Amino acid sequence: MAEARKLYIRTYGCQMNVYDSERMAEALGGNGYVEVSSPEEADMILLNTCHIREKAAEKVYSELGRMRELKLARPDLKIGVAGCVAQAEGAEIMRRQPMVDLVVGPQSYHRLPEMEREAGQGAKVLDTDFPEEDKFEKLEARPKAKRGPAAFLTVQEGCDKFCAFCVVPYTRGAEVSRPASRILDEARDLVDRGVREITLLGQNVNAYHGAGPDGDWSLARLIRELARIDGLARIRFTTSHPNDMGDDLIAAHGECDKLMPYLHLPVQSGSDRILKRMNRQHTAEGYLRLVERIRAARPDILLSGDFIVGFPEETEADFQATLDLIEAVGYGSAFSFKYSTRPGTPAAERPQVAEAEKDERLQRLQALITRQQRAAQDGMVGREVGVLFEKPGRMPGQMIGKSDYLHSVVVDGPAPEAGTLSRVRILASHPNSLLGECI
Ligand code: 5AD
Ligand code: SF4
Repeated sequence: MAEARKLYIRTYGCQMNVYDSERMAEALGGNGYVEVSSPEEADMILLNTCHIREKAAEKVYSELGRMRELKLARPDLKIGVAGCVAQAEGAEIMRRQPMVDLVVGPQSYHRLPEMEREAGQGAKVLDTDFPEEDKFEKLEARPKAKRGPAAFLTVQEGCDKFCAFCVVPYTRGAEVSRPASRILDEARDLVDRGVREITLLGQNVNAYHGAGPDGDWSLARLIRELARIDGLARIRFTTSHPNDMGDDLIAAHGECDKLMPYLHLPVQSGSDRILKRMNRQHTAEGYLRLVERIRAARPDILLSGDFIVGFPEETEADFQATLDLIEAVGYGSAFSFKYSTRPGTPAAERPQVAEAEKDERLQRLQALITRQQRAAQDGMVGREVGVLFEKPGRMPGQMIGKSDYLHSVVVDGPAPEAGTLSRVRILASHPNSLLGECI
């Protein structure tokens, strides 16, 4: 048998890219590749890229600059660029870095095995189509290897919301939901291979409306059906838009034991003037009412969010409204970003906020979020929570897992093995994790 060829994938950006990288590695497995953990030993390097902010996109070119050295030393090395930068920049990537052999967008990577064969014969190959066919239907069945206890599963892709700052509708395309039966099959298969927690992924996951046997299913219906799978202990989903939080999904948070009490619900800004300019189609008040309804269904739920500071024309008063909203909600965690101009999006044309102003606002917002995050974490001390153990800790016998609320929890030995879901009493709150003991 020919010796396996070696594939190194570097993944940037969101969880969907993590999922896509797994699927791309599996697809190239059919061409005789095994994954390795360093670029130096690889026969093929694939960068799975992110285009959401300028910095993320620029990282790709600096990484390609470094890869150039490897290619000069080993001309047979193949270099590919996948993901959202591939989609947005296409042939421009090969113009800027001629040693790139292959460029593949996020909706056409089922064609990767064929593209790899062509690149192997010396061709430069590029595919950034939004094909008619569904890539998941064209990909080979997933191999049966054992896996870790937590997995991602893409159920929906793309976005029709067109927030004025966001490249996603252009790089991932229009909103598409996978058929429910395919998702259930994939989930059962993951559970057979050792998975106990599944995070359902979509750019607008709560807008899910995939075909079911009796008409379109909502995300709530999908979650209720997934919850019937024996051996699947936990379900999460991300990322949601406030306007797609239907009554049935809110109710599921109160009724479905397997649906975890943690919800990522980005609002971006607390100023109605800015929300309007962002084309978010909701107000700050509407968001606060929604949070109330979710908390009425599941009082202990931890919320997380995304915030953009320094959106074009954001004033100090607008920014203050964002801080007020954060105070009113009380987040368990949050991600915050300085507005980054994305070519081709409507906000790129608007009057920009000075960089120093953005820096200063980001610091103030992050200080507030950090306080809330700490308070939420410290509030866990003394409580009993479920923990799904995932991997050994640094000290002998220690294990690390995730709580129901997505906090990292460390338990000293003798601790349960990976894949065990245990009740844990929280003893202490450290900067990046909780310390607990099994009950
Ligand atoms: N600039 C800064 N942050 C952005 N995000 C999306 N586009 C931009 C941009 N142009 C943030 C939003 C989104 C998260 C995934 O990234 O907060 O929710
Ligand atoms: Fe981007 Fe999310 Fe807005 Fe869609 S809903 S345009 S993915 S920020």
